[in-house]
Amino acid sequence: MKSKVFLTGGNGYIGSHICVELLERGYDITIYDNLSNSCIEVIDRVQDITNKKIKFINGDINDTNLLFKSLQGIDIVVHLAGQKAVGESNQKPVEYYINNVAGSLSLIQAMKKNNIKKIVYSSSATVYGIPKSLPIKEDHPLDATNPYGRTKLMIEDILRDLHSSDNSWNIAILRYFNPIGAHISSLIGENPNGIPNNLLPYISKVAAGNIKELNIWGADYETYDGTGVRDYLHVVDLAIGHVKAIENINKFKCTPINLGTGKGYSVMNVINTFEKITDKKIPYQIKNRREGDVAICYADPTLAKTLLGWKATKNLEDMCLDSWNWQKQNPNGYKG
Ligand code: WQD
Repeated sequence: MKSKVFLTGGNGYIGSHICVELLERGYDITIYDNLSNSCIEVIDRVQDITNKKIKFINGDINDTNLLFKSLQGIDIVVHLAGQKAVGESNQKPVEYYINNVAGSLSLIQAMKKNNIKKIVYSSSATVYGIPKSLPIKEDHPLDATNPYGRTKLMIEDILRDLHSSDNSWNIAILRYFNPIGAHISSLIGENPNGIPNNLLPYISKVAAGNIKELNIWGADYETYDGTGVRDYLHVVDLAIGHVKAIENINKFKCTPINLGTGKGYSVMNVINTFEKITDKKIPYQIKNRREGDVAICYADPTLAKTLLGWKATKNLEDMCLDSWNWQKQNPNGYKG
């Protein structure tokens, strides 16, 4: 009998892709989401893709009582709920600490009351701060350069302290690099509110004619073409990384694992690949660097291969094509 998996924030961009992969492998899943950054329509779309039913609970992770009731009978928690925009976190730090850190403490309390001690946590490469060595390994020094990054690091530290106090917990801390792309069906994808912060959704909107041109934030970095280099990872590869973490959960104490391809691509690489794949021209302007950006960031994914038997399979062309197909099929995102 497959485990019963509870996904906080499971209705979001990453969560919906994880749900598809879990449902297709026969897992029983419950999505717990307050719909603050996702649409209820995603549930129907995930059910259409998989022809499987999902249990959905509209709830906030700071509602500890509702969480306690909702978690009954659950085997494993995947904790995705939280705010994730670096720039916004500088404007609203307290909101980020309440939602991300206090929300995580509320979840851990509700899990303890149900004697559930298996959790896969959605962390981020942002906890590495400014890279001191590349590719980045899991033992790279941890640092945070903005309130969002500090919330991710604090939650990791809370989980490490929790495990030190009770080593019967199994905790997988998955550090995402740059998830992009969409499911092959184009029924689910990245659906940012308003003007996208991230590169590929922005490029997709330029290609669709919704936005006039791309601003390249800095072309004077010490990289091969001066633009920022990142480790872009297909969101379906990321989702499968979570399936592998769930399948191996009993192995883990409190274990951080990078989920990245191990390859770095510059902004210009992404633009050129997107143009080649879609036959669309992406006009751009070179602007000043964006505050908080690092020049280069890409993963050493060796540990994921060793511990999870996981390796990214999709390349940048796949990511650009799937992103563009999602944009074409959903010009205004989800109707909701
Ligand atoms: C990628 C590159 C930009 C937009 C962020 C968060 C990180 C994670 C993923 C949550 C950089 C350049 C971008 C644009 C540009 N989120 N760029 N013009 O900043 O690496 O990571 O999203 O976990 O925590 O920090 O991703 O896509 O915003 O930027 O030139 O309009 O594209 O400067 O070099 P980032 P991004």
